[in-house]
Amino acid sequence: MTAYRAATSEDLRAIVELEARVFAGAAWSVESVGDELACHGVTRHVLVAKEGDRLVGYASLMFVGDVGDVQRVAVDSSHRRQGIAADLLIRLLEEAARKGCRSVLLEVAADNEAALSLYRRFGFTEISRRLRYYPGDVDAVVLALPLDQPV
Ligand SMILES: CC(C)(COP(=O)(O)OP(=O)(O)OC[C@H]1O[C@@H](n2cnc3c(N)ncnc32)[C@H](O)[C@@H]1OP(=O)(O)O)[C@@H](O)C(=O)NCCC(=O)NCCS
Repeated sequence: MTAYRAATSEDLRAIVELEARVFAGAAWSVESVGDELACHGVTRHVLVAKEGDRLVGYASLMFVGDVGDVQRVAVDSSHRRQGIAADLLIRLLEEAARKGCRSVLLEVAADNEAALSLYRRFGFTEISRRLRYYPGDVDAVVLALPLDQPV
């Protein structure tokens, strides 16, 4: 069974390893992940998904004023299509609402069908594009979700 909880500094190594497996050349460094964890509860909300001792997913939300920004949602390839990303995302959105966010934004590569489908399922819609933003001239799609309805 998958358990969800707030990340702590003890999760640092496992998150960095998951980042490397999932994002390869675009993975965050140990310093970047450390900064996210250090800001947990201040400007960030970082969650981990665990099966026993094993980290199988994590997600991070930044909140500034009344806007939240999904920084990361990552699930180990061995554990995909089991609803883990959806479980993480709903928890991030609930936290955004608790923090007083009126909308949540995120950016995703235009060719990332899995992520686009996940976010659209939650009601995110495209508000703009950054052309050729990612390597390989892939556009970044900026998605937004208003939080005026209960999550
Ligand atoms: C995108 C990602 C987080 C989805 O994780 P997941 O745990 O497999 O997703 P879930 O099982 O919660 O799926 C929820 C919904 O997302 C969509 N989805 C997920 N994977 C999909 C895929 N491969 N193809 C199409 N839709 C997909 C579906 O709508 C799915 O609902 P369904 O299973 O009822 O059809 C995962 O594929 C991943 O870590 N990808 C690499 C990192 C990444 O791109 N992160 C997002 C940008 S930061």
